[in-house]
Amino acid sequence: MPGYVVVGTQWGDEGKGKIVDVLAKDVDMVVRFQGGNNAGHTVVVNGEKTILHLLPSGILSPSALCVIGPGVVVDPKVLIQELEVLASHGQKVDHLRISDRAHLIMPYHIKIDALQEGRLAQNKIGTTKRGIGPCYADKYTRIGLRVGDLKDFEYFKMRLKSVLAIKNEIITKVYDEKPFDYDELVETFRNYKKVLEPMIIDASYHIDKALKEGKNILFEGAQANMLDINYGSYPYVTSSSPTSAGVLTGVGIGPRALDHIIGVVKAYSTRVGEGPFTTELLNEEGENLRTWGNEYGATTGRPRRCGWLDLVVLKQAVRINGLTDLVLTKLDVLSKLKEIPVCVSYELDGKSIDYLPSTTAECERLRPNYVLMKGWQKDISHIKELNELPKEALDYIHFIEKESGVKIALVSVGPDRQDNIITKDFF
Ligand code: GDP
Ligand code: IMO
Ligand code: MG
Repeated sequence: MPGYVVVGTQWGDEGKGKIVDVLAKDVDMVVRFQGGNNAGHTVVVNGEKTILHLLPSGILSPSALCVIGPGVVVDPKVLIQELEVLASHGQKVDHLRISDRAHLIMPYHIKIDALQEGRLAQNKIGTTKRGIGPCYADKYTRIGLRVGDLKDFEYFKMRLKSVLAIKNEIITKVYDEKPFDYDELVETFRNYKKVLEPMIIDASYHIDKALKEGKNILFEGAQANMLDINYGSYPYVTSSSPTSAGVLTGVGIGPRALDHIIGVVKAYSTRVGEGPFTTELLNEEGENLRTWGNEYGATTGRPRRCGWLDLVVLKQAVRINGLTDLVLTKLDVLSKLKEIPVCVSYELDGKSIDYLPSTTAECERLRPNYVLMKGWQKDISHIKELNELPKEALDYIHFIEKESGVKIALVSVGPDRQDNIITKDFF
């Protein structure tokens, strides 16, 4: 069955949005399966930039039906705003559907996210403060409200009443803050219902049917392997599974539907928020990467922490996601460098290791072992064919392929939809 997955292999912001947009013209559906508007996926078409937070990055391709899947957490306010902005730019937006099973991010989730981060003080996670963690927490403690609940508004009101009583108790007693007003929330969500109800579907059912009809479906990951709730650098992670395994539970399909599992890897590393980052550069080299790569968060605007490519991290992503292909992005950003260090293993307490330890304390003690690659010191952003790349850039690509054991299907050399060297025909 023709299922395509695009996932991040590092700490997010690898350029997943761009790649999903490139592939979207050849698929029938683009489906988000986890996360929420903590994501910021940038698509650039003829120099015009669009940042998508909740809408799938296929939305700019009118032929691809876009679906917000069951595993996503949806802030209706953000979603409606995103739709309005796109529509005001003359974009078609009637090809969006939302799963009835997706959970609603409520205003109290956003509030609690910020309050908890404040209370954690120097131990904070550095979340996007979009209410992601508190919303997923409610889902798993079974006091969440779902998009489909809006259809039966009396039921929604009844559930909200009992849940809000608990939330207000936490907000007032634990955090000494003002409670949320039930009637106000009811009116706000009555308005959201009017806009969203026509788009609500049973996504798992429709996606399974489309797969059986042989349609091409692209599952768009948000965040990345190192932010995975199980295998990321816990607790500095997000609250969902951004891996290929997350597609199965986040959409409601079986594993055999996934044919092509495409990992997006940036030619160097970035991270937003707190947590260990072994190849981080806290010097001018890091500042250069930030400037050349314009590394500022697409969601929060925070400067991204920058460092060299870490192949131990990439290999963990290959293993956990079962990657079949890689897409290498932002190779153009390295073009000024004379030498490019690539981390191939770590030193931990005097021992060489090639895996990521599970504890923060161990991860903080890791020291990178680098291989020095030669830079190419030429602009490559106009190149469309692999064999036109300088030898040093080809060596960089081949080294990543050899170490990871996965072929690179596309090399991205600029932010625009057109700036690609395509080495494999997916369709
Ligand atoms: P995502 O979250 O994985 O979709 O990535 P983001 O959109 O948050 O961050 C990637 C940034 O890099 C965006 O500003 C993209 O426009 C930009 N970008 C993507 N691919 C390339 C590339 O190959 N070269 C350059 N210079 N920029 C790129
Ligand atoms: P895309 O899809 C980069 C990070 C946050 C924080 C941690 C937890 O654009 O790659 P959360 O708000 O999810 O509870 O924050 O995860 N984070 C991201 N970092 N890209 C993202 O998404 C991210 N989504 C969350 O900075 O460290
Ligand atoms: Mg991003």
